[in-house]
Amino acid sequence: MNFLDALAPEGNDRVLALAIDPERIPAHIAIIMDGNGRWAKGRGLPRFAGHRAGVTRVRSVVEDCSHIGVKALTLYAFSAENWKRPRAEVDMLWRLLRIYLRREIEDLQRNNIRLQSSGRVEALPAGAYEVLREAERATAHCTGMRLNLAINYSARNELVDAVNTLIDEARIEGRLSSLVVDEAMIEKNLSTAGLPDPDLLIRTSGEMRISNFLLWQIAYAELYVTNTYWPDFDRAELLKAILEFQRRDRRFGGLTAAPAAPSLSQEHEIDEIAASLTASSK
Ligand code: FPP
Repeated sequence: MNFLDALAPEGNDRVLALAIDPERIPAHIAIIMDGNGRWAKGRGLPRFAGHRAGVTRVRSVVEDCSHIGVKALTLYAFSAENWKRPRAEVDMLWRLLRIYLRREIEDLQRNNIRLQSSGRVEALPAGAYEVLREAERATAHCTGMRLNLAINYSARNELVDAVNTLIDEARIEGRLSSLVVDEAMIEKNLSTAGLPDPDLLIRTSGEMRISNFLLWQIAYAELYVTNTYWPDFDRAELLKAILEFQRRDRRFGGLTAAPAAPSLSQEHEIDEIAASLTASSK
């Protein structure tokens, strides 16, 4: 379905959607979904109500991103540090994950969305792990958006795992003493191998932190932090983030536009500056 067709004919969402340049949609959006607890507290509700509302938001953002033409969406669902939370909250998060995945498999298939995961997922409780693998298998043939759930994820762990894999492979193949690691080798062993690097990293609820999320992959991502809590991050919020992304001047360490070749007089000036620098350093 065309994204505009999915929106109401009138209204704020449509105005925002019309302002978006369809040629410059971020290929990969990564989101730190934060603020479920504060959202619940503000309503006098228990924290789990915030997480439940957060799951509802996951569903709508996944669908919207897929309709907009985003190629990959990575959601930070559970960090390796989140085990420090009270046992009841952690158990509730696994329960919600299981319910979400079971309920979503058919919708993901219908929307041609392929599910994958990042993180040390083997450490998940058996029930959550099994349903995750089942959802990955059931959507493995889908060719549309990649939905990457970061679960029990830590970017530092991911980098350590990638380097250890390279060392193990080299040891088995008898070439450990001559092993030289380069960027491409590390990238190939990250959980996001095959996905473009995130163009846009969104964090909800106002904290200015990266929280051990995709440290390698976000080297050139545009950062967007909103005060909105995750359960309130609706379609208008998503569209605003994409519009803001499209306003950014991405230079990747270079210059905006290719500079014109220096004129003869500029070349002469450059030569003079170089000569004076050489003279002063003698
Ligand atoms: C941060 O809010 C959110 C989390 C730690 C978990 C995110 C999980 C979900 C949105 C639900 C499950 C996800 C999926 C993919 C089904 P917080 O609790 O840190 O909020 P606070 O900072 O306001 O306390």
